[in-house]
Parts: sequence; C-alpha cells; structure tokens
Amino acid sequence: MLEDKDRIFNNIYGIHDKSLAGVMARGHWDRTKEFIDNGRDWIIDQMKASGLRGRGGAGFPTGLKWSFMPKENDGRPHYLVINADESEPGTCKDREIMRNDPHTLIEGCLIAGCAMGANVGYIYVRGEYIREREALELAIAECYDAGLIGKKNIHGYPFELYVSHGAGAYICGEETALLESLEGKKGQPRLKPPFPANVGLYGCPTTVNNVESVAVAPTILRRGPAWFKAFGRENNHGTKLFCISGHVERPCTVEEEMSIPFRELIERHCGGIRGGWDNLLAVIPGGSSVRMVPGEDIKDCLMDFDALMEHKSGLGTAAVIVMDKSTDIIRAIARLSYFYKHESCGQCTPCREGTGWMWRVMERMVEGRASIKEIDMLLDVTKQIEGHTICALGDAAAWPIQGLITHFRPVIEARINSYSYRADDDGAVSRQAAE
Ligand SMILES: Cc1cc2nc3c(=O)[nH]c(=O)nc-3n(C[C@H](O)[C@H](O)[C@H](O)COP(=O)(O)O)c2cc1C
Ligand code: SF4
Repeated sequence: MLEDKDRIFNNIYGIHDKSLAGVMARGHWDRTKEFIDNGRDWIIDQMKASGLRGRGGAGFPTGLKWSFMPKENDGRPHYLVINADESEPGTCKDREIMRNDPHTLIEGCLIAGCAMGANVGYIYVRGEYIREREALELAIAECYDAGLIGKKNIHGYPFELYVSHGAGAYICGEETALLESLEGKKGQPRLKPPFPANVGLYGCPTTVNNVESVAVAPTILRRGPAWFKAFGRENNHGTKLFCISGHVERPCTVEEEMSIPFRELIERHCGGIRGGWDNLLAVIPGGSSVRMVPGEDIKDCLMDFDALMEHKSGLGTAAVIVMDKSTDIIRAIARLSYFYKHESCGQCTPCREGTGWMWRVMERMVEGRASIKEIDMLLDVTKQIEGHTICALGDAAAWPIQGLITHFRPVIEARINSYSYRADDDGAVSRQAAE
C-alpha cells in the first residue's frame, strides 16, 4: 500500500487543518521561490522527467504540454486555465482537492503559470461545486494576504488567480468549450487547429490542465522527478487519485500508486466486491466515457493507461465504476446513453442525431423490444459517430455501447428473444414482428 509519507494529498479527507498555517506545517509552500528562480525551462524539464501524464482523462504528458506555450512574447498575454469542471460520471477527485487540500492547487498554479509565461490563471469550477468554490476562494484570499501570489509577491513572479464557475453543462469540461464559456459565450467546443497553446482564451496562448495534474506539481519539484517516477511502471508513473464507486463494500476516493492491480485496489481500500469476487460482473474503469471490462478480465489487470488500453478501455479519470451481477447491464449503459444525448451540444450532426438515435434503440433493448439485427446496426452507428465529430463527446457516447455489445451480446440477444416470447403469450407482438 502507498505509504502516508508518499501521499501528495495529505489532507484529502479534510481531517487536518487546511488553513495556510496548517498546510505550511505539512510542508506545502516550501522552497517555492527556489523553483520559480530556477526558471521556466527548469520547471518544464523536471515535469517531463517525472513522467506525469495529464489526469483529466486523455493522459497527455504534462511537461510536454507546458513546453508548447510560445517562448517569445508577441505582446499577447499567456493564460493558465484550470479545468475543475469534473463532470465525468463517477469522477469525484478534484472536488476533494479543492475543498480539503486547495493549497496544493494554488501553489501548482503559480508554478505552472511561471513555466508557461502566464501571469494570470483562471480556475473554472463546476457550477454545482459551491462548497468547493468557497474553500478555494478562501484559500486564494489567504495567499494574497500572505503575499504568496498577486502582482507583487514574495516569489518575485507576478501572478493573479481568479475563480470562475460553470452552470452545470458536461460539455464545458471539454477544454475549448470551457474557454468559450469562460469568455461568456455558449459552451460549445471549437474546431482544432488552432490549438489553445497558440489561440486559446481571448485569442491568446493558453494551456488548460486538470486540477490534479497541476496540484501534484509542487510536490514533484520538492521531492524530485525521480521520486514520482519511481511509482508505477514505464510510461505510467506517479501516484494517482482513484474514485471507486458502485458495488464495492466501501466506495472511496484514494491516492494510490499508478499501476496497482485492480484486485489489490479494491481489497485494500474498498473492503472487496459486494457479495465476493465471483459476484463481479463488469467494471467501467475510467469514468463513463470508456468501454467496460468484464469482471474476469479486470480482476488482475493493472490500473494504468497502457494496461487498460490493452483491454480496449482506458484509465480516463480513474473513476472506477464497479458493477456486480445484480446489475442490469443493458439498462446501465442505456442510462449513460441518455446522459450523452442530454449533454450533446448539438454542433455536429453525427453526435446531435446519433446520441438520440442510440439512446432510443438502447431504451428498446432494455425491454428487449428490438430485433436481433438491430444489434449490429447499433454497433455500426457507434462506428459512424466515433472519430467523426468536433470533440470527443461523440466517442464517449459510442464507446460504452461498443463495450456492451462486445462483451454482453448474448445478454442482449436473450433479452430480445424473451421479449418476443412474452409478447407472443400476450398476443400483442409476434416473434416475426419483433424481428
Ligand atoms: C466531453 C468532455 C468533457 C471533459 N470534461 C473534463 C473535465 O470535467 N475535467 C477535465 O479535467 N477534463 C475534461 N475533459 C478533458 C479536457 O478536454 C482536457 O483534455 C483536460 O482538461 C486536459 O487536462 P490534462 O492535460 O491536465 O489532463 C473533457 C473532455 C471532453 C471531450
Ligand atoms: S461531438 Fe457532440 S458535444 Fe462535441 S462538438 Fe460535436 S455535437 Fe458538440
């Protein structure tokens, strides 16, 4: 088990003093000036050496991303934007950082801002996170008062930090939709290129990072990139917040070592699977937007980007949704289809029309009121949406259904067949009519 001394978020459960004095006593805001004085290239090199991959879902290397910000100043300001939208179903890690350990994020913002030549940072918080926003604002005010950030501060790098908030749209977590929303417009994704590092917020160079990606940066610099890199395996390094929900004995959010085997994660922190390991049906390991993995396949799987990719799934936000054999797996995925239909911003036809079409078919499949050949038709439609849209919400809507059909086709077929027979008994629908 990851030892407490190696936990970056040492107040994730809010049991310690989260005031500035309290966090300083636990080692935060220590040697920050030294890191700033070392300069932006040094910070970026350290982040690259740590092997940190973005914690917002896509796993893009953080140091590399920071290096994309222009080195020359063409007169436009640079911006750091923190993605605290956290709308991915099952994900509940960034809120714990913001309400219980907000100084990790604020210190990270100053360091990341310096690394990308940004003197202004915005934290875009999910609208429903009111308490989290209050905790964050309180902590930011403490930092201004203590001269840790602001135009003139003890670190010698001018840095202003603002908190903004959304109004409850999932799509505003997509980085370019977030930028539109931050500018006061309707939250709809932009076409890329141009990428935000060149044309981002208000047309200026911008980097959008997840809360966790930035909040771990100060500890990486303090303890050294080799320390961080020692956790996990090649290409999948560091400690990671996992949010485990569903049919485990004790759902929780916990910081663990990357690449921990699934069974170990669940046994150590969640008290096992409800009803025992034989009762495990399937797991959606990375938030609702990835394909599910059947219970038998995930039991000994390593929880990291590459291992889950080999199972045609993904680590995503590390929101691990566990489903036992009491789950109506078709209904569970139909519910996700409803979510994506509801959250589609409507800009592109495959997503706008396809998410609604898939949801309606899924609803019929829950009852079994469908024909066997519609299973392949549904799969075909997911393939026509996947990769054919402006943003990844289209993929996110397609993948859960693909996972269902790949692993549970016989369950869907049985549901359809039993519906036909039942309908025959009622005399309402004949088997031929149902097919
Ligand atoms: C539909 C959609 C919703 C997203 N929601 C979030 C979110 O709530 N939080 C987040 O950090 N990233 C979210 N992302 C990913 C962001 O676009 C972006 O990749 C991420 O903030 C980059 O941060 P990172 O490099 O630190 O991982 C979402 C992406 C899509 C397509
Ligand atoms: S994929 Fe969907 S959510 Fe994304 S831009 Fe297109 S319509 Fe909007």
